Formats: sequence, structure tokens, C-alpha cells
Amino acid sequence: MNIELLRELTETWGPSGQEARIRVIIEGHLHGLVDEMRVDRMGSLIALKRATATAKGQTPKRVMLSAHMDEIGFIITHVDEKGFARFSNVGGLRTLTLVGNRVIFADGVIGTIQIEKGPRAASEAPGFEQLFIDVGASDKKSSPVKVGDMGALLGAMAQRGDRLIGKSMDDRAGVFVLIEALRQLKHSPNDVYAVFSVQEEVGLRGARTSAYGVNPDIGIALDVTLTGDFPEAPLMEVALGKGTAIKVMDSSVIADPRLRALMVQRAKEAHIPYQLEVLTAGGTDTAAIQTSREGAPAGCISIPTRYVHSISEMVDVKDVQASIDLLTAILSKPIDID
Ligand code: CO
Ligand code: ZN
Repeated sequence: MNIELLRELTETWGPSGQEARIRVIIEGHLHGLVDEMRVDRMGSLIALKRATATAKGQTPKRVMLSAHMDEIGFIITHVDEKGFARFSNVGGLRTLTLVGNRVIFADGVIGTIQIEKGPRAASEAPGFEQLFIDVGASDKKSSPVKVGDMGALLGAMAQRGDRLIGKSMDDRAGVFVLIEALRQLKHSPNDVYAVFSVQEEVGLRGARTSAYGVNPDIGIALDVTLTGDFPEAPLMEVALGKGTAIKVMDSSVIADPRLRALMVQRAKEAHIPYQLEVLTAGGTDTAAIQTSREGAPAGCISIPTRYVHSISEMVDVKDVQASIDLLTAILSKPIDID
């Protein structure tokens, strides 16, 4: 597996609404793998790989895949006289995981997130109003960050055996799976629209408009999902290292049962390890595709990930590979679910 590509993707800056930089990187890796590329009005990248193996007299199905390019981040709300910046979340940040982390802004300015000293129950998660970012400025005037500036977590990817730790595995691991499946896919009877969507973390916004534009017959999202395999984790069947996860439901969507059954069948045929995923918190682009226009059958291939929405999201390379293999297997054949 091309771990270096995954490293490059996770380490690239791109909070919601600021995806231009990561989009350029993805475009670069898609050259030669697809027939057409365009950027839609919201900024999502739509790459088309035309059907190569359609049976005579059949029109290829339009299959929309979606992996979101954006990552969770920060937005500066206030800079005080001493130059300390206050911030709010862009997407689902949890304050408990933030203190001590580093943040990087579009222009490369780096700061550290710290917390006010002062009375507070030790058992409670701090509120965002108790946290601040120190960029090393001596006062407000000389601060390089201004109200409205967006930042993202700063962290290098690390590998130990089959386990990878990095920021923004959500959803750069999904972006990686999509690119690698396009590379692995030799022939497909389907017109494959690979969408790299914007603004998923703030409400599936890019996938919604892209799905309207693509008007797919079938939709498949690629995203991370939580696991239930660490100390006192919420009860959940999905575990790291046990295969790709085929979504049954999350809080935004009920995956089309026919498409889910087809995914399971393809996994079995190709001996790809898989688990069924029921995620009780969190949504995905799947929902935006499913409810676009008059609706489209949609499902999701998920990459089991520990510590989602922290600077240290952990995946297992075997699960990532299984996800690539399953997506390739699905796209290689007709998707007949009616
Ligand atoms: Co997310
Ligand atoms: Zn995600």
C-alpha cells in the first residue's frame, strides 16, 4: 500500500470551506486514472471514469462515490489585547482532546491550544470559552491571526506495524481509498463519478450539491467510522483490524438494504474481511446522496477508526486495504439491485 500518499493526504491543510489546497493535491494524483475532472460551484472535485465494459445495448449506471476532503478545524472569534486568540469549532471538535495540541493557519502560522487556569470541576470537559490559542504574539496589533481566520490541527502521521496514527484520517483515509480503488479498477460497466466533497464536517454540504449535479443511479460514500474496541468505549461491534465496515445505519442514513446486501455479497465472493456497522452518532455524505433530487439508493464503506476527531486518529492498514478491495470489487461488476 502507498503509505506515503496517505501521509501526504493526512498532513495537508484543509478545514471545511478551505479545501483548495487538498483539492490540488488530489487532482495531481488523479491524472491518468480518470477521463474527466471538474470542480463544481461549491468547490467539490468531480472526477469521471467512464464505463469500459458495458454489455451491448446497456446504458452504464451512474455511480457516485463520495469522500470528503475537508477536515475539522478552528475559527478565530476574538483576539485579546495581549494577543491571545479565542476560537470556535468548525465541525465536531471535542475540547477534552485539544489542550496542548498545535494549530496551523493557512499562511503557516503555528500556535498552541491552552486552557485558562481557574475554578472548574476536574471531571468536566472545558467549554470552548475556556480555551485559547497562543501564536506567540506580544499584543493584539502584532498578532498574525485575525477574526475569521481558520486553522487546523498540526500533526505528522506515524506508523507502527499495521497501525497508522494521524490527524484527518477522517476523511483523508476515505480519499485515499477512493484514489487507490480508481488505480486498482481495470474495467467497469459503470460510469464512476468520484467526488471529493467539501464541507462534510459542517453538515454534508458539498456532497448534497455534487449529488444534484451528478444525478446518480447509485451512491457510495467512503468515510471513517467509530470502533468499540478501546477501554470503556461505547458498545459497538466494529473493531480495528477486523476488516472494512459495511454501513447498515448511522444517525444520518439507513443504507439501502439491497445495496448493503450486494456489498456483503461482493466481500464474500472476493474473501474480503468485513464487519457490519451500526453507528449511533455521526452522519456521512451517504445521507446527502440518498436524499438528493428524487433520491438514490446509497450505502457506505467505512474505515474503522479509533479516536475520531482527535489529532491521533488510528486506522489499521489491513482495514484500509480491505476497503480499497471491496470498492474495487463493487465497481468492477454491474450494480443490479432492483
Ligand atoms: Co468527521
Ligand atoms: Zn468524515
